Amino acid sequence: MSGTADRAGYRMCTQQHKDLMSRLVVVSNRTADPRKPAAGGLAVAVRESLQQTGGLWFGWSGKIREAADGTQSGQGEVHVQTAGNVTLATLDLSREDHDTYYLGYSNDVLWPVFHYRLDLANFDTRFAAGYRRVNQLFAQKLLPLLKPDDLIWVHDYQLIPLAAELRAMGCTNRIGFFLHIPMPPPLIMAAIPEHEWLMRSLFAYDLVGFQSEADLTHFSHYVESEAHAERLSPDRLRAFNRTLRVGAYPIGIDVDDFKRLADSKEGRDMFVRMRDEYSRRRLLVGVDRLDYSKGLPQRVHAFRELLTYYPENRDSATLIQIASPSREDVGAYDNLRRQMDSLCGAINGDFGELDWMPVRYIHRNVARKRLPGLFRASRVALVTPLRDGMNLVAKEFIAAQDAADPGMLVLSRFAGAAEQLKEALLVNPYDTQGTAQAIQRALTMSLDERINRHEALLNRIRKYDVHWWSSTFLQALEDCEPNEAAASGTS
Ligand code: G6P
Repeated sequence: MSGTADRAGYRMCTQQHKDLMSRLVVVSNRTADPRKPAAGGLAVAVRESLQQTGGLWFGWSGKIREAADGTQSGQGEVHVQTAGNVTLATLDLSREDHDTYYLGYSNDVLWPVFHYRLDLANFDTRFAAGYRRVNQLFAQKLLPLLKPDDLIWVHDYQLIPLAAELRAMGCTNRIGFFLHIPMPPPLIMAAIPEHEWLMRSLFAYDLVGFQSEADLTHFSHYVESEAHAERLSPDRLRAFNRTLRVGAYPIGIDVDDFKRLADSKEGRDMFVRMRDEYSRRRLLVGVDRLDYSKGLPQRVHAFRELLTYYPENRDSATLIQIASPSREDVGAYDNLRRQMDSLCGAINGDFGELDWMPVRYIHRNVARKRLPGLFRASRVALVTPLRDGMNLVAKEFIAAQDAADPGMLVLSRFAGAAEQLKEALLVNPYDTQGTAQAIQRALTMSLDERINRHEALLNRIRKYDVHWWSSTFLQALEDCEPNEAAASGTS
């Protein structure tokens, strides 16, 4: 893990950021009111890091503005509101921009390819044009709000070319970028028709951060082989007349905050309700967005294998799978929904008894405050994505456990979190029988072994928590030398 700071070092950093640092400007497609609970790993982490420093959060309002005259010119002015020490500035998108930039290029091209699903990608030149147009629009609307020594932190795949657009408009601020999703290997990246433009655009930043060492290696290999980048030092690459600092900064959670939620009245009530309801059963839990990267059908298959090959779990093990609705206007998500309905119906039909159903499948949003109690009442968490940038549910499950009798995490080796959480039971989610064996091992593990593994996992997520993530990244960004030439990166 590069840039690792110890706990004391991190506290100094945080202090420094509160007192001395230039204003922080965060830009992400999805925003949230920092005073209200946020959904989704990115929004939660960004909110928690911004609350420490204060600053400006800029992004899409989540609204689509239909032009009054029926034309496409639906974008309006920037809406600004203050929420505690954070100023939230958002803009609406026109229907055309939303459909090409968000649904199209972001979620029908970049999302599937970056998650290794070339079969699901839909390459359409109108999507690429919309993506570029909205990144230009974000740059235009953001520029007047910037002060000369603001530190700008751009998040995720929806906004890769934003720094290049800002540079083309004369912005010389330090700009960092963090990719929340996996970086694919060079040959998979090369399947995107605009791959050269995208990767070149990243050199308009001063610092680019990834979730894992594996992601960082993929990026380095790409730019060394495709762009003849020169490696100046382990964390500095030079190409396109720019020097770029790179690093792995695995994102974390606010462990104490999540524990507080678990210990709150609502957390305890939820725990007691679940414990009583399932007193005769052993509870397994999965919480995900309904997304094909999460490996949900494979998970249900693995659970089916568990009931088939370890029949002692029949009438006993119950899987609660929460799958919150997501990106429902993208075709692949609709197919997944139908697949899950059918798989869960079949397993319940085949194995269910009058007083026991193997799977409780909930295709709705469940309030975040209810999760810690549910996690604490569960014997096993199934976090088995086919590919995932990090996966914060894995860390939340660990934080919510009772250290004297902790549940066990079954974790996909293809989640970024697997690089850090080696004491979980790591599985290959494509191998459903192997996953069933690991679930059985988790269900039958001795108390001593569970306690030892949990202690190691908890220490690690505490050390590399969300505050470590943001302060280490921002410190590295602040330390970047100014670049002598601004790369347009967009030609
Ligand atoms: C992932 C992505 C985020 C995204 C979130 C929710 O965590 O990395 O960028 O915001 O999913 O998806 P949505 O499309 O609803 O913003």
